[in-house]
Amino acid sequence: MEPNNKIFLTRDWHEEAVNYLCDKKYQVITWKNITPPTESEIINKLKDCVAIISEFNDKITNNIINAAPNLKVISNRAVGYENIDLKIAKERNILVGNTPGVLVETCADFTMALLLNIARNITYSNRDVLKGKWQSFYQLPYLGFDIYNKNLGIIGLGQIGTAFAKRAINGFNMKTYYWSRNRKLDIENEIGINWIDNINDLVSNCEYISIHCASTPETHHIIGKEQFALMKNVKLINTSRGPTLDQDSLIDAIDSGNIYAAALDVTDPEPPDYKSKIIHHPKILITPHLGSGSSETFKKMAMMAAENIANALEGKKMVSQVKL
Ligand code: GLV
Repeated sequence: MEPNNKIFLTRDWHEEAVNYLCDKKYQVITWKNITPPTESEIINKLKDCVAIISEFNDKITNNIINAAPNLKVISNRAVGYENIDLKIAKERNILVGNTPGVLVETCADFTMALLLNIARNITYSNRDVLKGKWQSFYQLPYLGFDIYNKNLGIIGLGQIGTAFAKRAINGFNMKTYYWSRNRKLDIENEIGINWIDNINDLVSNCEYISIHCASTPETHHIIGKEQFALMKNVKLINTSRGPTLDQDSLIDAIDSGNIYAAALDVTDPEPPDYKSKIIHHPKILITPHLGSGSSETFKKMAMMAAENIANALEGKKMVSQVKL
């Protein structure tokens, strides 16, 4: 065991992970406040730690990494790791871990829940019920759209996109297409999904569209004004990252009818300003980044983040190491 065995955990949410690390004789320093630590608060806590378990919205900056001379592992309890300055981590030979795999089915379930919700106006109609507007049997304001047998376009066919596609194909007989940087013939053959090599062709031919790509400079606003102009009556779901979608253009696209409704589990920024139009638009359903948020998966991700640290510090293979 290292003389310095302190690990900083940026949230007070993960009892099992803390117990696991404490059993291995690590000292876990847990951030106890409800509000996440700021950059200077992380610097202060991390300065004599060997590892950190961070969440996707903790920005692990150059300043933080430089102020932590003993830091050996950054373990993100998330699949995405765009919050970490990977360049400086690489320069410092710091290992970076993430938690893919365990959340795949959970996120795919949630994406399907959002699709069903906006297609059939579930939350939209419930808002009226809560206001006392259900006076008699009157479906007209809430008539939604069928899902069965309709066209679905998936942007980004990673593990979650694939798991979601399986649900759509097997459960709802949706004719399912995808656009991805790389064609994935094995998945096409396995699940019966079709590749469209041009994102604009995909969005102009699908009534349902779901975004599943990672957030990178190339995918910034991958769905924007140009794509919205090609859509017709689309039900759009984003469970990837807020910056993949141009939110200002989305509101115009709903108001002009190109989009029927949208469900956003991720926004840019996150959370959105409570006074912003996007929160209050009746045809936009916003959930607070809940894709991976089942009780089971929440724990599995925390345990995987803890195991990544223990393995790395003990010289073993990390469960999931980010390639730098
Ligand atoms: C959550 O959004 C994640 O990247 O795991």
